[in-house]
Amino acid sequence: MSSKVREKGVIVAIDGPSGAGKSTITKLLAQRLGYIHLDTGAMFRAVALMASQRGIAVDDDAALAALCSTLEISFLREGVGARVLVNGEDVSSAIRTEEISLLTSAISARKPVRAALLAMQRQMAREGGVILEGRDIGTVVFPDAEVKFFLTASAEERGKRRFLELAARGEEVTLEDTIAKVISRDSQDEARECAPLRQADDALAVDSTRLSIDEVLNLMEETVRERIAGEKR
Ligand code: DC
Repeated sequence: MSSKVREKGVIVAIDGPSGAGKSTITKLLAQRLGYIHLDTGAMFRAVALMASQRGIAVDDDAALAALCSTLEISFLREGVGARVLVNGEDVSSAIRTEEISLLTSAISARKPVRAALLAMQRQMAREGGVILEGRDIGTVVFPDAEVKFFLTASAEERGKRRFLELAARGEEVTLEDTIAKVISRDSQDEARECAPLRQADDALAVDSTRLSIDEVLNLMEETVRERIAGEKR
């Protein structure tokens, strides 16, 4: 499929491990392009939060499938970002704790959860003009996305960024422990059988370890605009 048949523009996939700067970059890139930003990690986090609130075990696939069928996940645009709503309830803060991060990594490996969210993501982005950030967007959700990026940074750098974020929120964490958690989450995401974290063959790899946000943004914006211009030709 190309943007010639998508109504509102191309689909941009931004995949990569946690802490590589995906959320920040995706939000700002969406703003520059006038595109919608779809944070698929927030959707998995929302499922994990609901499963935890309802006491559903991580390996109870039947209960997870039933849970997913009752959830309506939506985004309420707010400035550059968005609030995350589940069945109308704002869960934006509740989904960002360390506990939910770890649970999400486990729950996102379950087939029924991936199947349910895959369908939701395709439906939400079907018209194009969307930037999706996640782990399997370019490989599984939209293998036909017109532009694909794989954004990385060293584990140390990603751990440091996460540590500063958590410390700013007043969470009591150490740098060493935060780096260790980043590495452990990476290996869970890469090793899982279903839709593991992997760079698509046709994705452009961007290493943000030594690049500023603006440098990454400029590079990506240029790439997307070239592609959009190419589609129109
Ligand atoms: O991007 P994030 O840190 O908010 O993602 C939370 C978790 O969800 C992370 O462990 C990986 C998982 N995830 C996934 O498996 N597939 C996606 N498309 C997005 C996130």
